[in-house]
Amino acid sequence: MQYDLEKQHKKGKLHAIERIDLLVDRGSFVEIDSGVSHDCHDFGMEGKQTPYDGVITGFGIVDGKQVGIYAQDFTVMGGSLGHAHGRKIARMIELCIESRCPCIGINDSGGARIQEGIKSLAGYGDIFFQNTIASGYIPQISIIAGPCAGGAVYSPGLTDFVFVIDKVSQMFVTGPKVVKAVMNEDVTSEQLGGAAMHAGESGVAHVFSKNEKECFQKVRMLLRSIPHCSDEHCFIKDDNAKKRKCKLDDVIPQSKTKAYDVKDIIIETFDEDSFFEIQKEFARNAVVGFAKLAGIKVGIVANQPNVMGGVLNCDASDKIARFVNYCDAFGIPLVTMVDVPGYLPGSAEEKKGIIRHGAKVLYAYSRATTPKVTLLLRKAFGGAYIAMCSKHLGADFVFAWPSAEIAVMGAQGAVDVLYAKQMSGKADKEDLRSQKIQEYNEKFLSPDIAVKLGYVDDVIKPQDTRDKLFMFLWILRNKKATPMPDKKHGNMPL
Ligand code: HXC
Repeated sequence: MQYDLEKQHKKGKLHAIERIDLLVDRGSFVEIDSGVSHDCHDFGMEGKQTPYDGVITGFGIVDGKQVGIYAQDFTVMGGSLGHAHGRKIARMIELCIESRCPCIGINDSGGARIQEGIKSLAGYGDIFFQNTIASGYIPQISIIAGPCAGGAVYSPGLTDFVFVIDKVSQMFVTGPKVVKAVMNEDVTSEQLGGAAMHAGESGVAHVFSKNEKECFQKVRMLLRSIPHCSDEHCFIKDDNAKKRKCKLDDVIPQSKTKAYDVKDIIIETFDEDSFFEIQKEFARNAVVGFAKLAGIKVGIVANQPNVMGGVLNCDASDKIARFVNYCDAFGIPLVTMVDVPGYLPGSAEEKKGIIRHGAKVLYAYSRATTPKVTLLLRKAFGGAYIAMCSKHLGADFVFAWPSAEIAVMGAQGAVDVLYAKQMSGKADKEDLRSQKIQEYNEKFLSPDIAVKLGYVDDVIKPQDTRDKLFMFLWILRNKKATPMPDKKHGNMPL
């Protein structure tokens, strides 16, 4: 097959076939449906050559495991999606479902092929349908390697992981010209739907890369971190991974109000270089990602005290809930690390719907039947304590560091509410306040009461974190979910 590499390189992008080569193990790609073409006769399409109808589909191997791939070729009619092109992609997803392997889409397209009219739209419909059938059964990965406009953004939007590339990716429902015409808003493509915007602000993207090469390396890394289908077992022990004490004793600052980086704890606890962060730039007050613990594949959810004190807001709730859903669908055990002052108060968040968004976290954790182990690092306050995979939402085991504080709210806030009348107008108001704060701290701000009530299984030393987590995850390796009431499906808040 002759590929027009030069035409694509002139746009500063790699060609579809070069992208496939970067993704798969050398020489492993086998193409299917390469002879398929369009059957359109309108608008100059009669007899027009469209090799493979503008999308290369087939199977390859990544680190020894099979993956299905489709890659749109912008040099063939701008990678536009006609009926045959759409059918090829939908068939590829179907084949991946049947062969139980991840499906990876490389998107670079001007959208629906205008000449083919409604048949192009039918092609998109077929893809959306298959994306939905595949959801939760095989991992679906979208790489945005060029324009992705109109309804075309909704196939990536239905998939599990969207990879974007700086200055290459563009995703929007309508482009800047339409935005100007309809909204009278001046905006560049980059501002409207560039990689940085989707990674940092909209949350549409899950992984940001500086260039195409880095992007494909990251896709390979992700594939090493997750099971290749919902049946693959995550509990494969790496006998070479040593038991080890974690250097974590000093990570929590003495001062209760001082922040720290929860990623230091994650990196010290899990296997070396195994942490693969998802949505790193979005809602940074929460951290989610995959890692390994003595070989066991796990999903990690953590509050990030370094950003907004680790509070749960609308975006962080969405980020956590979607990640928990993914892990549960694929049987990936969840480790949740908690240091959360609460849900973010204020009219801005209420108007955004913190009730609706926050409810997603409760729903996702409660429904998740995958093994769930929780570690309370410091604050676990109020509704956010419940939400962050507490025993009450079905955590299998909950451990706490000695620094854990479990309460309805922090001491200052609590005392100001409880003793407002007694303190009002008193000369010794501050003394009374300090005394009550101390009393409150002594009573609530330790894990002891939670241990007595069985809400926390044990208080562990930070240095034992890795070994304890491993031990208790391993106990859960054959966990079988308690059957749910017989129903079609629940109604998750969205
Ligand atoms: C047919 C298309 C096409 C399309 C591009 N081409 N988009 N052909 N249908 N949708 C062709 C061009 O005619 C050109 O052909 C070649 O691809 C390269 O395109 P250029 O415009 O030269 O490239 P560039 O300057 O890089 O601009 C890229 C672009 C622009 C920004 C994507 O092509 C563009 O605006 N395309 C239309 C985008 C669009 O509105 N799509 C429909 C969205 S609606 P030649 O022969 O000159 O090389 C939609 C509905 C889906 O997708 C609904 C699903 C539910």
